[in-house]
Amino acid sequence: MIPSNQPRVALAPMEGVLEETARHLITQQGGWDFCVTEFVRVSHERLPPKVFHRICPELKQACLTPFGVPVHLQLLGSDPESMAVNAQVAVQAGAQVVDLNFGCPAKIVNRHGGGARLLTEPDRVQAITAAVVEAVRPLGIPVTAKMRLGYEDASLALDNALALQAAGISQLVVHARTKTQGYKPPAHWERIAELAEALTIPVFANGEIWTLEDYRRCVAVSGVQDVMLGRTALADPWLAVQIKADAQGLESRTSRLPDLIGLMLQWMVMGGQLYTERVRVMRIKQWLLMLVPRWGEEARRSFEACKRLQTESEVIQLLQEVLDAVPRPREDAL
Ligand SMILES: Cc1cc2nc3c(=O)[nH]c(=O)nc-3n(C[C@H](O)[C@H](O)[C@H](O)COP(=O)(O)O)c2cc1C
Repeated sequence: MIPSNQPRVALAPMEGVLEETARHLITQQGGWDFCVTEFVRVSHERLPPKVFHRICPELKQACLTPFGVPVHLQLLGSDPESMAVNAQVAVQAGAQVVDLNFGCPAKIVNRHGGGARLLTEPDRVQAITAAVVEAVRPLGIPVTAKMRLGYEDASLALDNALALQAAGISQLVVHARTKTQGYKPPAHWERIAELAEALTIPVFANGEIWTLEDYRRCVAVSGVQDVMLGRTALADPWLAVQIKADAQGLESRTSRLPDLIGLMLQWMVMGGQLYTERVRVMRIKQWLLMLVPRWGEEARRSFEACKRLQTESEVIQLLQEVLDAVPRPREDAL
């Protein structure tokens, strides 16, 4: 049963994908409570503020997207002292919430003991988090965290969640898979239930919530109503508003592929000031691929048609053809 208070919907951190322009366009669609940036990798040096501003230009705009949605800054690292120092730099650069990444599956990150690898050592997770909390709490800055269920298995999931809570985080997002499970469906929402029951801080469920039906099943299985959406945000940015409406027993607008293609075209124009043509073309291909689980064959055909294109004008033409091929609703049916 959905509790009577409003569910919260967060926009996930996605390195190389959910950057400033994508956050801008997605949060513009409504229903989003906060975003988390791509991770800032912390090693042993003190990073200059410009690194934080590059990943999170919103730091200079009171940490809000142009539509007023708060943006939290994510750090990834394994050394408590460097994490604490860099969290302070992030706050001086404007961060208002610091999020810690305990889920990254990338080999290079895990080889250096960061990301999901840390989940094999709950004491270390606690030490890193406590160092960051101690560094920024006196400045009035909350610390949140995002974890996977574990590295190779989920046996330490509860220990890690309790360690994070004990260290002083104010909320936790759980991507309901281990590092080994990667991004392979299903997400194990039932494991979130166990963690949420044991914790007193708010818990957000994350992983494989593609539709309103998935959301309802996730709530039923996990008992958690707050969610974070990653790939879905790109495949269906209107799901956030649909979740909110559904919780109030209301219906909201249906998601339509042409509207999404329209957003992609908008992204290309806005991204023109920020990224090279090669990057823009590559991002659109990546975006089209992420539509497949939500939009099926139609999206796959578009991806296949796009994947060998080289220039922006070819990509724009293809997106335009996809738009033209989708039957428009009849005016009298609107
Ligand atoms: C391309 C890509 C980049 C990601 N980058 C990050 C990241 O920087 N920090 C993080 O905590 N999670 C990252 N994630 C994980 C997502 O935030 C999310 O947990 C995962 O995609 C599962 O949620 P979803 O099924 O809604 O996509 C990334 C995922 C993908 C696919």
